Amino acid sequence: MNPVCEEMNSRPLIELLEVSKIYPLPSGDVVALDRVSLIIREGEFVAIMGPSGSGKSTLLNQLGCLDRPTSGDLFIAGKNTREMDDHELTGLRLNTIGYIFQKFNLIPLLTAYENVEYPYLMKHRKPDDTGHVSGLLAMMGIDKALAAHKPPELSGGQQQRIAVARALVNDPRILLCDEPTGNLDSVTGGQIMEMIADLNRQGRTVLMVTHDPAVAEYAKRTIVIRDGRIT
Ligand SMILES: Nc1ncnc2c1ncn2[C@@H]1O[C@H](COP(=O)(O)OP(=O)(O)O)[C@@H](O)[C@H]1O
Ligand SMILES: [Mg+2]
Repeated sequence: MNPVCEEMNSRPLIELLEVSKIYPLPSGDVVALDRVSLIIREGEFVAIMGPSGSGKSTLLNQLGCLDRPTSGDLFIAGKNTREMDDHELTGLRLNTIGYIFQKFNLIPLLTAYENVEYPYLMKHRKPDDTGHVSGLLAMMGIDKALAAHKPPELSGGQQQRIAVARALVNDPRILLCDEPTGNLDSVTGGQIMEMIADLNRQGRTVLMVTHDPAVAEYAKRTIVIRDGRIT
């Protein structure tokens, strides 16, 4: 069966039902997401596009449970996140979702190796003695010498490779990327996109915000958002 058909039949991994996000400001409420409903199936690769300020990052933050909706329901793997307490949400973020950001968001005082090991430590409560962290770094083209460096000493492309390794360390089913190539030159950006596309081919569900049509080409489906609504 071709993979697209398989995805049509696979079960919903993420489901949004009438999700709104309102930021109350002294100057008035900002409706960043306006009753968005959306189904993402296991194995999909979806690009989220739209003008600046349209609600792309807000949507990704909801999908990643980094924030709770003002109203509406968000289901992940069949569970309503509204019914989860903070402990359960932390577990979901640690085990099920990997995050990749435009500005890499590495911890500057830790080495590359320690950055990747950090979510592993949070999960397993002990250092990695299995070689898993080094293996992931090697897979991303970061050798032992580079892994001993701190992020400010490394190039943007190297930092994003480390961020991808960090996102993968607890083997998440879902990968969320917010403008993953936004701070990279086009050659380096293309390499990062190849890596992300490979991760999708291996079965991971990928949701990616981008304003770059060439980057969105890597995805199999594109969602456009305007003024907080899916068009
Ligand atoms: N923490 C916040 N407080 C108040 N308003 C916010 C906040 N985050 C985003 N917004 C507003 O919500 C809208 C959508 O923002 P965002 O999701 O960041 O858009 P995009 O990622 O598409 O550029 C914008 O009008 C933005 O100003
Ligand atoms: Mg944004």
